[in-house]
Amino acid sequence: MKYFFILLADFMILVNSGVQDFKFRPNLPLGEYRLYFNSVQQCCQKCAIQQNFYFFKTSSTRVELRGNMSSINKAFDDTLWFRGAMSVKDKIGTWQNNAYVYSSPHAYKTMKSLLGDEFRVFLNSFGLNDTKQNIIPPGTYITKGYDLSNFPSNTNLPRQIFYGIYKYNINYTEKNGDLVACHMFVLEVKRPWELE
Ligand SMILES: *[C@@H]1O[C@H](CO)[C@@H](O)[C@H](O)[C@H]1NC(C)=O
Ligand SMILES: *[C@@H]1O[C@H](CO)[C@@H](O)[C@H](O)[C@H]1NC(C)=O
Ligand SMILES: *[C@@H]1O[C@H](CO)[C@@H](O)[C@H](O)[C@H]1NC(C)=O
Repeated sequence: MKYFFILLADFMILVNSGVQDFKFRPNLPLGEYRLYFNSVQQCCQKCAIQQNFYFFKTSSTRVELRGNMSSINKAFDDTLWFRGAMSVKDKIGTWQNNAYVYSSPHAYKTMKSLLGDEFRVFLNSFGLNDTKQNIIPPGTYITKGYDLSNFPSNTNLPRQIFYGIYKYNINYTEKNGDLVACHMFVLEVKRPWELE
């Protein structure tokens, strides 16, 4: 199975290696990186699964994801689809949308593959456990703070990415495309030794 970010990284390598058909050309150096989590917002006020997340800086180098997830009658499970799109900031500060949208069935499994060992830590911070049934049942879950400093090392995210500022849009939908949850987050991919 291919992971969203790896796919995007592969895609960018493809683009970088001279394929002319894509408008999207990051023209950025590739390498090992540190992630800076700038912002996260929900893009759907009426969705069945609400994810009220925000980033909270606990020190100069540590950021936590805080907030809550809640749903009255919709489980987060493998009946849902994962759909992601990405934009990158170009040299003059304009977002370049990537026409490429990554869609994958089995939202739960996709998240789990992407986050690797961090998936369990993520769930635990909400008082949840990973289950064989691949399900987060409906309910309200408040995180005690999910420390993001183990990204990307403890995850399955690719080890090398093009440096830059990225905006990711991740939607969870029904198979027919109906929106169940929607969020956007902005990340900075920096060289490991770069200061803020
Ligand atoms: C969830 O987060 C939202 C937005 O921050 C807040 O308004 C709401 O009260 C929170 N719900 C719970 C149960 O903490
Ligand atoms: C996510 O849903 C929003 C709102 O319907 C839509 O504008 C956006 O294109 C969707 N993104 C993806 C990756 O499907
Ligand atoms: C998660 O697992 C721990 C340890 O096995 C257990 O104590 C806890 O009750 C479980 N929580 C849920 C929500 O199932």
